[in-house]
Amino acid sequence: MHEPVLTKEAIHYLKLHNGQVICDATLGSGGHAALILKEILPRGLLIGIDQDEDILKQAKLNLNGFKEGSYRIYKNNFRNVDDILASSGIQKVNGILFDLGVSSLQLQNAERGFSFNLEGPST
Ligand SMILES: C[S@@+](CC[C@H](N)C(=O)[O-])C[C@H]1O[C@@H](n2cnc3c(N)ncnc32)[C@H](O)[C@@H]1O
Repeated sequence: MHEPVLTKEAIHYLKLHNGQVICDATLGSGGHAALILKEILPRGLLIGIDQDEDILKQAKLNLNGFKEGSYRIYKNNFRNVDDILASSGIQKVNGILFDLGVSSLQLQNAERGFSFNLEGPST
């Protein structure tokens, strides 16, 4: 799994506790999300958003162990966060995390074209 950055700080500043609704607007492979779920379950809910379909497959695998209904995953751009939450019937969240950029999993895959030092496909 991609090693999430600043985990202690992210968890500390979100001030997590059981029952909260938290939005991870850049879900990636779900590293931060897994840590968040551990703090907000059994009553909480995590909304995970990422626009990259490939990384979401990894997130689904990594979050598979958490109970059904404790998280919802949306393939979308986080600029649509208001609509995503509204469509999910959520009017208010207790916290939102933006871990901006790309993850090492995306960078290391030359095919994706994100890498600075690996040759990507030529068009
Ligand atoms: C640094 S990674 C997040 C890693 C994640 N926190 C974890 O623990 O695995 C940033 C993620 O943001 C996603 N992303 C970047 N811009 C986005 C946007 N505008 N809307 C939704 N997702 C976006 C990327 O696809 C990438 O998966």
